[in-house]
Amino acid sequence: MPKTIKALTNRAFFLYKDMIQAQITGVGAYAPDDVITNADLEKMMDTSDEWIMTRVGIKERRILKGEGEGTSVLASKAVQILLEKTKTKPEEVDVIICGTATPDYQIPSTATLIAEACGIKNSMAFDMQAACSGFLFGLEIGSNFIKSGKYKKVIVIGGDKMTSITNYEDRTTAPLFGDVAGAVMLEPTEEDYGIKDTILHTDGMGIPYLHLHGGGSAYPTSVETIEKNMHYLFQDGRVVFKHAVSKMADVSAEIMERNHLTKDDVDWLVPHQANLRIIDATANRMGISRDKVMINIQKYGNSSAGTIPMCLYEWEDKLKKGDNIILAAFGAGFTWGAVYLKWAYDGKKDK
Ligand SMILES: CC(C)(COP(=O)(O)OP(=O)(O)OC[C@H]1O[C@@H](n2cnc3c(N)ncnc32)[C@H](O)[C@@H]1OP(=O)(O)O)[C@@H](O)C(=O)NCCC(=O)NCCS
Repeated sequence: MPKTIKALTNRAFFLYKDMIQAQITGVGAYAPDDVITNADLEKMMDTSDEWIMTRVGIKERRILKGEGEGTSVLASKAVQILLEKTKTKPEEVDVIICGTATPDYQIPSTATLIAEACGIKNSMAFDMQAACSGFLFGLEIGSNFIKSGKYKKVIVIGGDKMTSITNYEDRTTAPLFGDVAGAVMLEPTEEDYGIKDTILHTDGMGIPYLHLHGGGSAYPTSVETIEKNMHYLFQDGRVVFKHAVSKMADVSAEIMERNHLTKDDVDWLVPHQANLRIIDATANRMGISRDKVMINIQKYGNSSAGTIPMCLYEWEDKLKKGDNIILAAFGAGFTWGAVYLKWAYDGKKDK
């Protein structure tokens, strides 16, 4: 190819790249059928429905019970729904990013298991760990794959089987967590829809307050790690609560400000579902009323990376093309952040 034509083609590609946005073209999610209610927990430990409802806002949570079934089982179901709704053939998928803190195995990745279960053979598939902020971190990575111009269909998953790392003898954490996964399809558009802005943070000062130290390369599973309960999630709830409230509210207000959005411009807040009081604090700081906030914590509890895509799935029929949506999350690390996106289609997509 002559040099000038090559230069012009390159220039055109870079101009096109500048115009590409990553839009969400569909959403799928899955929650297992089995339920742990507050009444069930009352029988297992010294707690009450009244305490859990007032302090956290959870009525029940889902549990995946099948022998040998991990996060990939939840996520594969979410991805199958997504493929049907977006009428995508498995061979068309370019990338699968799975945000999870509860992988099925150490090796191979949960994304690999999901690809295999869904018949997706041509994609690059990998896991990404940012705890409860996993879905937001995944969206940032996925949207940049789309903006590169090289990838056309990117699936971003957030999902966790939190019951697999929950200690049901510890009343301070047992009521909080459940199992859910959700997934979105990202595709390019030159129109003004899709992911407009992201603010994401990690600060390791949170390590002592929320962690699971057993079973990794530092403390491989042993009789001792099990005796010390190191295979369960540890949380200092009060410290985590304090940071979650301020960080989630601050970052949500910041993303509004930097995109010149008033409270009336925001159609929906989609907060990570860890505690109803944290959700309310975030909405109050943004000046947003409860009717614009997606809340399903009472049904599912905290499913870590799964909460935000599950909300999008359950509210999809109410969403309109052009809606301004703020997603906000906080999790172990600490990790936290907000994403501002313009929704790209009207109503629920049929399967
Ligand atoms: C865990 C959490 C719900 C606890 O609520 P809290 O209001 O902070 O409660 P505290 O930890 O101060 O405990 C208050 C009392 O309730 C008791 N308590 C704790 N769990 C209880 C339970 N399940 N049932 C009854 N009482 C309980 C405590 O022992 C404490 O009693 P004490 O005052 O006699 O010591 C809350 O701290 C929280 O949501 N933290 C953040 C979770 C989060 O956002 N995680 C994000 C990462 S995913």
